[in-house]
Amino acid sequence: MAPHRFATLTADEAAALIPDGALVGFSGFTPAGSAKAVPRALTARARALHARGESYRLRVLAGASTGKALDEELAGADAIAWRAPYQSSPALRAQVNAGRARFVDMHLSSVPQMVAAGEFGPLDVAVVECTEVTPDGRVYLTSSVGASPTWLQCAQRVVLEVNRWHAPRLRELTDVVVLPPPHHRSPIAIAHPMDRIGWPYAAVDPRKVVGVVETDEPDGVPAFDATDGTSERIAGHVVRFLLGELRAGRIPREFLPVQAGVGNVANAVLRALGSDPDVPPFWMYSEVLQDAVLELMDEGKILGASTTALTLTDPAMARLSSDLDRYASRVVLRPQEVSNHPEVIRRLALISLNAALEVDVYGHVNSTHVAGTQLVNGIGGSGDFARNAAVPIFVAPSTAKGGRISTIVPMCSHVDHNEHSTRVIVTEQGLADLRGLGPDERAAAIIESCAHPAYRDYLLRYLERARVGHLRHDLRTCFELHLNLVEHGAMLPGLRVE
Ligand code: COA
Repeated sequence: MAPHRFATLTADEAAALIPDGALVGFSGFTPAGSAKAVPRALTARARALHARGESYRLRVLAGASTGKALDEELAGADAIAWRAPYQSSPALRAQVNAGRARFVDMHLSSVPQMVAAGEFGPLDVAVVECTEVTPDGRVYLTSSVGASPTWLQCAQRVVLEVNRWHAPRLRELTDVVVLPPPHHRSPIAIAHPMDRIGWPYAAVDPRKVVGVVETDEPDGVPAFDATDGTSERIAGHVVRFLLGELRAGRIPREFLPVQAGVGNVANAVLRALGSDPDVPPFWMYSEVLQDAVLELMDEGKILGASTTALTLTDPAMARLSSDLDRYASRVVLRPQEVSNHPEVIRRLALISLNAALEVDVYGHVNSTHVAGTQLVNGIGGSGDFARNAAVPIFVAPSTAKGGRISTIVPMCSHVDHNEHSTRVIVTEQGLADLRGLGPDERAAAIIESCAHPAYRDYLLRYLERARVGHLRHDLRTCFELHLNLVEHGAMLPGLRVE
């Protein structure tokens, strides 16, 4: 058979092939490896069609959140009808909270299996960024793997964005395997964060590829906020706790692999872990690799990292790409189904660091919905990691919005991680180690160690009122703080928080 030749398309020509209502799987896990040119052309197409009074809205899947060209611009053009499994775009968030776009908030490890099983209907189109596609259908991905291997396998039609900006040598980091349906699976043979079990490329049936769009564009990952005093105090508590666990022998001398979630606070904790002389050099088994990890790798504090996305600012990405002799043996880029797989997370006995929006006095954690109603980002991988880590840690400042909000509340207004999975809660005030504690002890530990002093009396009085039951609650007032917030803009109006 003659080798397959792929048609070269403009982004507009590719966008024209994607009909109104299509379910589209885009590459991207954070802005890393996110499709760029085709989403932009889809935005232009949607705007033109809407101006003529025609409908054009897509059902959008990506590995997790995406770059600006995808969620932010498509949502800004009112062209996303449905979105899963994660997002962090202000425009899309506004649409979701206004009930204009549907959002399905999902554990990221489960998504490829659910799409492959057809749970959302047929995947009409995949739009995947790569550095190269070979005539026999080997697709070399760029800075993230995410769910792209599954999209390529399942989609009826495929558009590839071949992005020249990314180094072709990123394939040396890549380790792709598409897990078979669950009832045909063997154990995943990863016993160390650096173990490789797959291939440096994802596979596509070349006959499904309708065309290739050429691009030359970085991911445009935004930089993190500078670390503030609150994050530093949280980080200090986490480091002291982990050193105590090390001394007690519950963490082995060589330490445990670390997962660090998205957000400023988790990023600050990672930096503090890396700079403490008593914390031994450690491995990471995480879903994102951010600038801080690269810096700590350069300092020899992080020995190597497994991830599904290189969420690096453009200069950091350029640095990694120009020194692949150094990084190729220290970074493994896997599909999100493997980076976030409960089986592997349990086996490797991770320390997980994720941020909470609010925590209740019994240790339930809300990561996603302000006052139980307003979506922020989504659960992302936090459930995959926190539920299965050996040492799950949740971090949050004790107050938000200048003290108008207490992140420690009587009852969470929405629960993403329940009391059965949470074990260590940390704010800048202190750390509550919930292991082995009954509900009354958990409540005392969380209020005394984590709540802001300005809110402690309120929380203690709440518990005094809530006299009956195993988990004592006063059902009349358990959401009083949230109601105040919604009605008066502050949980305790008139309270001054220093
Ligand atoms: N109520 C209302 N707003 C709150 C809040 C609360 N209880 N707690 C925090 N916020 C606000 C902050 O004020 C801030 O708002 P701003 O952007 O307007 O300044 C915003 O939420 C982010 O909070 P911040 O303290 O800067 O924390 P962060 O950057 O670490 O983000 C999460 C915190 C929870 C939003 C973020 O970690 C997240 O989306 N987590 C879910 C997904 C996840 O954990 N993924 C990791 C798996 S690898």
